Amino acid sequence: MILAAERSGELSRGSGQTILEPTGGNTGLGIAMAASVLGYRVVLVIPDNYSREKQRLLRAFGCEIVLSDSRRGNNSHGELAQEILLEHPEYVLLNQGANPANPRAHQESTVIEILADLGDVRVRHLVAGVGTGGHITGVGSVLKKALGDLTVHAVQPDGCDLLDQRFVRHKIQGLAIGYLPQVLDTSVIDTVETVTAEDAATGMRLLMSQEGIAAGISTGANIAACLKVAALAPGETILTFAYDSAHDYLELL
Ligand SMILES: Cc1ncc(COP(=O)(O)O)c(C=O)c1O
Repeated sequence: MILAAERSGELSRGSGQTILEPTGGNTGLGIAMAASVLGYRVVLVIPDNYSREKQRLLRAFGCEIVLSDSRRGNNSHGELAQEILLEHPEYVLLNQGANPANPRAHQESTVIEILADLGDVRVRHLVAGVGTGGHITGVGSVLKKALGDLTVHAVQPDGCDLLDQRFVRHKIQGLAIGYLPQVLDTSVIDTVETVTAEDAATGMRLLMSQEGIAAGISTGANIAACLKVAALAPGETILTFAYDSAHDYLELL
């Protein structure tokens, strides 16, 4: 997204311009890393119920953190970012939920890595959480063309109905961000798997005890959804994502 903004002339490398972004933390971390190297200032708007460890890390990167009131809904940070933009029209909002460079990055890199790693392995199911919809759209669209017979399962927290635009407060950070994002191509989704926060925590524990992988709560949700898919499709190969580390979510275990 930063490279796209540089190409369009919105951002100029080394200028010290300010990038503004509402984020649950991980896109913010990516922006912080890139901005350090490319010479931008970063203001991130994060819901106040999101991981404190991530906030500390982002501050250590030199980002300014503005906390939104999570009681105002799943998109409290998006709404506050829009208000900040009104006060600071010179800030550049990357707007990951509406920026076509988000899914494009997954089409141009994530899925290429996946296809190279898969080799001859025949994947029948893709299980992916939906936050901005960037990776399910980018990876799902290319994989469907490349593999033909692929079922794409979107993962959502219990109580939300993504396609019907119903969102409730939930504990699976990274998923169901409170609105249907523009970058999400719903035609890529074949079916939606609903997962409780408890199932997601169980998924985290399973990954630790059986694979030695300490991954976060939205990854745990993917594992819980994979188990549902596997129960109905024994012997078929499922591809899913591990997004971040368990360290930021230990209080959920
Ligand atoms: C931990 C975590 N899980 C899931 C997602 C959802 O990914 P996407 O925004 O591509 O839908 C994100 C997005 O940043 C994330 O940080």
